[in-house]
Amino acid sequence: MSKMTFIKPDGTRVEVDAPLGKTILDIAQQNGLELEGACEGSLACSTCHIIVDEEDFERLPDASDDEEDMLDLAYGLTPTSRLGCQVVMTEELEDLIVSLPSGFNNQLF
Ligand code: FES
Repeated sequence: MSKMTFIKPDGTRVEVDAPLGKTILDIAQQNGLELEGACEGSLACSTCHIIVDEEDFERLPDASDDEEDMLDLAYGLTPTSRLGCQVVMTEELEDLIVSLPSGFNNQLF
């Protein structure tokens, strides 16, 4: 089973099982972590915003234009921000580290 690590807003690190083919959003929610995902992965919100570890960021496939557009609306956007519902766990992403932001724009568009 592949693994990944979430860093909570308070700095706590949580290592979890990360089944291949699951999105980061799914994995966070299955482990009781706070990542809202208000639109359930249909790219209509930015509440699944995650911040990828800088060293890991290049391992991720590029974001689509639609994801980039939605990310622009995310609270606390960073250069390594992604939407958790759009990043799917693969073998290449083993041991990925992502931080959960401390807030988000709770707004559906
Ligand atoms: Fe809404 Fe990811 S859950 S864009």
